[in-house]
Amino acid sequence: MKISKICCIGAGYVGGPTMAVIAQKCPHIQVTVVDINQARIDGWNDENLENLPVYEPGLDAIVAEARGRNLFFSTDVNKAIKEAEMIFISVNTPTKTYGEGRGQAADLKWIELCARQIAAAAESDKIVVEKSTLPVRTAEAVKDILDNTGHGNKFQILSNPEFLAEGTAVEDLLAPDRVLVGGEMSPEGREAMQALVDIYAHWVPRERILTTNVWSSELSKLTANAFLAQRVSSINSISELCERTEADVSEVGRAIGADSRIGPKFLQASVGFGGSCFQKDILNLVYICRRFGLIEVADYWEQVIKMNDHQKARFAKNIISHLYNTVSGKKIAMLGWAFKKDTNDTRESAAIYVADHLLRENAKLCIYDPKVSKEQILNDLNYLNTRTPEENEAMVEIVTDPYQACKDSHAIAVLTEWDEFKDYNWDIIYSSMLQPAQLFDGRNFLDHDKLQEIGFRTFTIGKIIPPVKPYKEVLNA
Ligand code: UDX
Ligand code: ADP
Repeated sequence: MKISKICCIGAGYVGGPTMAVIAQKCPHIQVTVVDINQARIDGWNDENLENLPVYEPGLDAIVAEARGRNLFFSTDVNKAIKEAEMIFISVNTPTKTYGEGRGQAADLKWIELCARQIAAAAESDKIVVEKSTLPVRTAEAVKDILDNTGHGNKFQILSNPEFLAEGTAVEDLLAPDRVLVGGEMSPEGREAMQALVDIYAHWVPRERILTTNVWSSELSKLTANAFLAQRVSSINSISELCERTEADVSEVGRAIGADSRIGPKFLQASVGFGGSCFQKDILNLVYICRRFGLIEVADYWEQVIKMNDHQKARFAKNIISHLYNTVSGKKIAMLGWAFKKDTNDTRESAAIYVADHLLRENAKLCIYDPKVSKEQILNDLNYLNTRTPEENEAMVEIVTDPYQACKDSHAIAVLTEWDEFKDYNWDIIYSSMLQPAQLFDGRNFLDHDKLQEIGFRTFTIGKIIPPVKPYKEVLNA
């Protein structure tokens, strides 16, 4: 089966970059990305590539090459479904915020709506590809809807989970460690899998394209993210121990990572992992295990989340204790809001929770992030519902100049490892701050020796923390 037209429903962080790369590598295939969000589609169609709704290094060049040739962005979902032989579902599957499974299970509302829309619009047989992260056995539900609500057309459901990481999405898509295609083990299922394998084979070596049954594919995605998040929580747990001893978590990470059985990646201690996938996928795994009565398995994975929450909270508490146990009315500069560098995505970013903790203590925050908008930062805080939007606006200032963020502050908290932070003129920043100038590096990546030479009191994850000076001593100094 040769595919000439693809449709992708959902023009987000996954759908947009993935389809741009498929279009670039397969110029003979027409790729149409559709979304119900008009503003998003307008962003993807914007002449000015700086306005693309997703920031990813290298993405603008790929979009520029393929857009208008064989890559199209549109809100006409039905037309794209009708025309395509293969339809990717790449809509959001956030954690449920209501009802049964609230706070844990994935909300499959949008997936179901997509399935119903495909069934209603399709006028011929289709291959439907699940790209969004989904709980195991979702394909079964999608197939059920397609088979029972359509006009007699045949549907093959494939699972093709995305393993790209934000910030390196283009690299990951161009040279993936593996591509996973799961499908039904029937002749029709194998034919559909082959059609998708043939698309990836235009640029991915065949031995890196793995085919499995559909359930293994769905579960592999959750498991991969759970294992990666577990490594971060594991090193973060050790970071707390390092702070009490004279061990240094970077040295411990380097030493254990040199063991080829462990490997060096994902051993960077931090203020806590964020992103749209890790927490959501683990919660999903935990929910599924509980539903099957696998209590020990569920508890085991849940601990990864608990450790992460602990890491975020103790970073905020550490700031408060070093500011003499009160941050009330004090200006604290926050550098970075995105959940990692090189992305404008803020979903589940540790910065949100650290900020909320400090705001509960009546701190005044001044936030700077090179890629995140003011509107997004306020949305993230408002979404927590801890205080009214008006209160958030009053307590939080968002600026476009990092020097202004730090000026007159009592402390700086570094929440994202943006490269540009290393190149700032820290002498100027130091002299513009209130003394003693304190800096809390939640990413363990600045040059602390240099900062201390300038005069900063620096605190970082996983290195011994100087004792808090008694308040009296500070007053007398
Ligand atoms: C992740 C998976 O890596 C990717 O394969 C999957 O498709 C989606 O989920 P992503 O969330 O985009 O990707 O970013 P990732 O690089 O995995 O980082 C996740 C979080 O962990 C970030 O907040 C990052 O700062 C943090 N992290 C990562 C650490 O704190 N330490 C590390 O050593 C690595
Ligand atoms: P991800 O990180 O998984 O790509 P995003 O939230 O960035 O998630 O993107 C998902 C996109 O899917 C959003 O732009 C949303 O508007 C779109 N979407 C959700 N439901 C539908 C639907 N039924 N039809 C078309 N687009 C949809």
